[in-house]
Amino acid sequence: MTDHLWSGRFEQAPDTDVFGFQASFSFDRRLFEDDIRGSLAWAGALADAGVMSSEEAQIVTDGLNDILNRGLADRSFVTGDDEDVHAFVERQLVERVGDAGKRLHTGRSRNDQVSLDLRLYVRRQVHCLQSLTLELISALVDQANAAGSTLMPAYTHLRRAQPILVAHFFLAHIAALKRDYQRFDVVREEADAMPLGSGAIAGSGYAVDTERLASRLGFSRVVSNSVDAVADRDFVSSFLHTCALLMVHLSRVAEDLVLFTGEEFAFFELADVVTTGSSLMPQKKNPDALELVRGKAGRTIGGLAGWLATMKGLPSGYNKDLQQDKEAVFDAEDTVSASLPAVTAVVHNLVLSRKQTESAASGLLLATDVADYLVSRGMPFRDAHSVVGRLVRRLLGEGRDFESLSLEEWRAVNPLFGDDILKRVTAQAAVKARLTPQSTNPEAVGAMLEECQEWLALARSRVTVEA
Ligand code: ARG
Repeated sequence: MTDHLWSGRFEQAPDTDVFGFQASFSFDRRLFEDDIRGSLAWAGALADAGVMSSEEAQIVTDGLNDILNRGLADRSFVTGDDEDVHAFVERQLVERVGDAGKRLHTGRSRNDQVSLDLRLYVRRQVHCLQSLTLELISALVDQANAAGSTLMPAYTHLRRAQPILVAHFFLAHIAALKRDYQRFDVVREEADAMPLGSGAIAGSGYAVDTERLASRLGFSRVVSNSVDAVADRDFVSSFLHTCALLMVHLSRVAEDLVLFTGEEFAFFELADVVTTGSSLMPQKKNPDALELVRGKAGRTIGGLAGWLATMKGLPSGYNKDLQQDKEAVFDAEDTVSASLPAVTAVVHNLVLSRKQTESAASGLLLATDVADYLVSRGMPFRDAHSVVGRLVRRLLGEGRDFESLSLEEWRAVNPLFGDDILKRVTAQAAVKARLTPQSTNPEAVGAMLEECQEWLALARSRVTVEA
């Protein structure tokens, strides 16, 4: 009978299918590196606590390092019939160093071990996802810079609303992505609690210096309750939520670009290198990458919802249901880490069609500015809204827009219109007339863009230092 970590208690070997069903090695092998780093630190802690001699700890350390190096050099080494990655590492260790290896699991359970591994893993991956987020932000910043003073329409209800700078449009998506970046910081902070010493549930029976162990593993604190610790996956929920929300934001970038690069808008041209053709219709140039990102957002949202349903109503302490955490984390991570570079490539290769965006940015969407003009001449806004509303209705009927009105016609609409109205009712004047810091006023946008570039440089240097 194959020996498992727990075989002593059993008369019969487990059914092959059932064992295979509950085993996790096929996916938790991704925790290989973290499992070994955790075990290296645990060996040190056991030696410090006098549970293992320092000679034995050294033998275990050498053995673990050998396994780590083999696994890092060749991922296919990390395979076997083992139940999970913890069993794999222990088997490899005992094969190498014998009895000393059998002492490593003293005072530890796979319950606190797997929590540690996943916390270490999430901490590393959050870092990678943040780097990828910064790359996309950087591509959007480049587009915002390149757009200069170019105007485009902004939409509410997907109807032309008011003119804005193209840079302002890009900065809007940047604002959401910056929040995602910061949300990953919160995930890291949540994962930053060292669970070893919790044992299976009641705490370890050996006086291990958990503070020291935490700092050895780069954690800033130790968990506060062993019962909570072996079943706390809040950091997983937060990670999945952050990934899902990031994907929601990516799907909105994707949707905007699907629309704005289509024939009807034609504000931007999609580069050949980020599109695909149709097998039937020779003229087609499809934004598949963007559509897939939009679609995959649904998958990530489903991952979060599924995981929360798994957690709901679990009794206290470790339950095997928790093993679902890993596939959820890996899937969200894979989805986000594939989607971010795809969107970055699309954004990086976008070509702005200035003529198209600017011609769409003038016309009746200047109605608010006409109303504001009347307000500047003393008319209450509600009355101005109504005067301009009637004018719009008339112009629509005549197939004209504001620019075609002569001064006499303006005055006939309302004597408050002076000869400066012609200058005031342009898209350029409209953006300049927006006055708040978050507005599309060119100076405000310039300041935001500058601030964003500084933020990006700082975030990048932080990501590099922590790598
Ligand atoms: N593969 C398990 C998991 O991912 C490891 C912990 C197993 N603990 C246990 N008591 N069976 O959750």
